Amino acid sequence: MTKKIAILPGDGIGPEIVNETIKVLDALRSGFGLNVETEQGLIGGAAYDATGTPFPEATLKLAQDADAILLGAVGGPKWEPLDYALRPERGLLGLRAGLELFANLRPALLYPQLLDASTLKADVVSNLDLMIIRELTGGIYFGKPRGRRINDSNEREGYNTLVYSESEISRIAHIGFQIARKRQKRLCSIDKANVLECTELWREVVIEVGKEYPDVALSHMYVDNAAMQLVRNPKQFDVMLTDNLFGDILSDCAAMLTGSIGMLPSASLDKNGKGMYEPIHGSAPDIAGRNVANPIATVLSLAMLLRYSFDDDATATHIEQAIQAALDAGCRTADIYSEGTRKVSTTEMGDAIVSALLARKS
Ligand code: IPM
Ligand code: MG
Repeated sequence: MTKKIAILPGDGIGPEIVNETIKVLDALRSGFGLNVETEQGLIGGAAYDATGTPFPEATLKLAQDADAILLGAVGGPKWEPLDYALRPERGLLGLRAGLELFANLRPALLYPQLLDASTLKADVVSNLDLMIIRELTGGIYFGKPRGRRINDSNEREGYNTLVYSESEISRIAHIGFQIARKRQKRLCSIDKANVLECTELWREVVIEVGKEYPDVALSHMYVDNAAMQLVRNPKQFDVMLTDNLFGDILSDCAAMLTGSIGMLPSASLDKNGKGMYEPIHGSAPDIAGRNVANPIATVLSLAMLLRYSFDDDATATHIEQAIQAALDAGCRTADIYSEGTRKVSTTEMGDAIVSALLARKS
């Protein structure tokens, strides 16, 4: 049966990097018999400009009906003056919440070709392969009450709520343990249990769930220490399990270990494994429209989509190896450029990946 992918390019560099990914998808369809159809929809600022809302009903329906979703990025200074409810980010958060995509998988993998692109010493990051599992539909991102008010001293005041229920913690913990089981069987849960009651409960529930996975070694770390350890000795980690806000921050940090945030894909899954796939970087408005963005994180997100949602390991591997081949050939977008390599544009990187892919066709 033909599977359907909803494609939501979004804002900033979103359309450019998604275009290159569509080129890869087309090559897989024509050259490798991949049987998928696609339909594009609006999200974020682009949706706001066209329809007055960052998250149109039609986009939710498209996402619900599709077998998987591929997203570019949302946001930009143009929409910053808008009310929170109308900001591009609301579109993305609405989609995560609307489809209950609570499990966010953010692998950080260092490609050997990019050892020089990392700001850390080669021996600290060589062969790095860690997985951050971020809770995505709860915590302070969604907790109520939230807002701004004038307090009793007639001052402006802002407030948000960090809240997790037991079931929200245990379902993401199960995902963490299951993924650790398929890797090196080490799970480090990140919290701030020394200060925040909510994350004290987080730790308690993770320990309880861990009893069902005696084969996985569970450890705990405070988030401030975890940030430090990520840059000190990142290879001590296999799987890191954490909440929405800490995961947002730690995954940007982990991304830089691999040379560039332009390299990292992500998967956001619901309880049935249906998923949305997106690069972990944002819309990079400063470089949008200049054909310089790195499309690799989005192309890798397509590989994750094929692997996790369509169970198609073989095609995902073709994509990953085509990317390696393009890197081996010396192609580098500006973010991963180092001396002795060839600086290429967004479209040239896409072309290089497509031709490496077609060269693999037997
Ligand atoms: C991410 C992004 C988003 C987040 C923004 C764009 C809302 O930073 O996916 O990490 O904070 O979750
Ligand atoms: Mg982020």
